[in-house]
Amino acid sequence: MENDKVKIHDKEFRIFITRDEINSRTNELGWEVSKKYKGLNPIFIPILNGSFMFAADFVRACTFDSDMMFVKIKSYEGMASTGTINFQLGFEGDIKGRHIIIVEDIIDSGNTLMEFIKETEKHEPASIAVVSLLLKPDAVKHEIPKDYIGFRIPNAFVVGYGLDYDGLGRTLPDIYQLDI
Ligand code: IMP
Ligand code: MG
Repeated sequence: MENDKVKIHDKEFRIFITRDEINSRTNELGWEVSKKYKGLNPIFIPILNGSFMFAADFVRACTFDSDMMFVKIKSYEGMASTGTINFQLGFEGDIKGRHIIIVEDIIDSGNTLMEFIKETEKHEPASIAVVSLLLKPDAVKHEIPKDYIGFRIPNAFVVGYGLDYDGLGRTLPDIYQLDI
């Protein structure tokens, strides 16, 4: 059973999206993506760290053959985007001519994703799609592909299910929102 409230560092958070809601939406997304990608043998590219938990559940909801490749990008300090994208783990292997499915935990400003899409395009893949569990529509500053979005959420900070607040909160099985 989930707790209604958690305290992380100096801030109070309130339950926002439960593990059951995440699970059923993830299965729906897996089903939708599977209709399109069967036989195409795409490469999933989860962007670490935040997306590791969603990626693990999402790829299991997909029923086609695929490859996995991980990249690590850092752009956040505390609750604010730093505005600079720092690749801490980059491409390995050849993605030329392959179908790419980028897996994200959340699209906030969209800066990270935009930079990563540009980087990916340089490697001449056959196509690029984005699957993101969360999207903050009021915060996005770029034209981002929004075909596969789990939940559209208000512009407030969230933690849990892979998302952290300064290193804490990642392992919570549910998603919590900053209580204001
Ligand atoms: P963006 O570049 O502003 O779209 O945000 C990039 C990354 O910042 C996301 O992939 C997350 O890892 C992290 N992030 C953005 N918003 C939140 C939030 O509300 N909680 C925790 N992490 C977040
Ligand atoms: Mg992320």
